[in-house]
Amino acid sequence: MDSVSWTSRYETGIDAIDRQHRELFKRIDRLTLSIYDGEGKRGLGGMLEYLGTYVIEHFGTEEELLSRHGYPDLEAHKKEHIAFMTRFMEIKRECDDKGPDSYLAIRVGREIEEWWKTHVLDTDMRYVPCLRQA
Ligand SMILES: [Fe+2]
Repeated sequence: MDSVSWTSRYETGIDAIDRQHRELFKRIDRLTLSIYDGEGKRGLGGMLEYLGTYVIEHFGTEEELLSRHGYPDLEAHKKEHIAFMTRFMEIKRECDDKGPDSYLAIRVGREIEEWWKTHVLDTDMRYVPCLRQA
């Protein structure tokens, strides 16, 4: 089953990327559900653990593809990825300091969802013509 928050407008048409994006959206839904179930604390822990590995793999896949196809805005795109990783480290630190709680889970869940939706729709979509051309 697809995730609730995923719709076709997030599709880039590039299989490897869409597969990874879909998986992430599913994880975001899972975090939301855990919050509804009063399990936000556990959900947040799981999400942060997952994201740590995911961002390295996903940003790596994208950057490798973009560099292989000579995407002209690769550097600007990479900067957004780095900005997310920096923010992610801050969130992790906050979570380690305070211990994950439901309020933090709600706030972090919203922030992560917002960032990814904007990034996919704005920044990722810009490379689609370049990759499709190849
Ligand atoms: Fe990206």
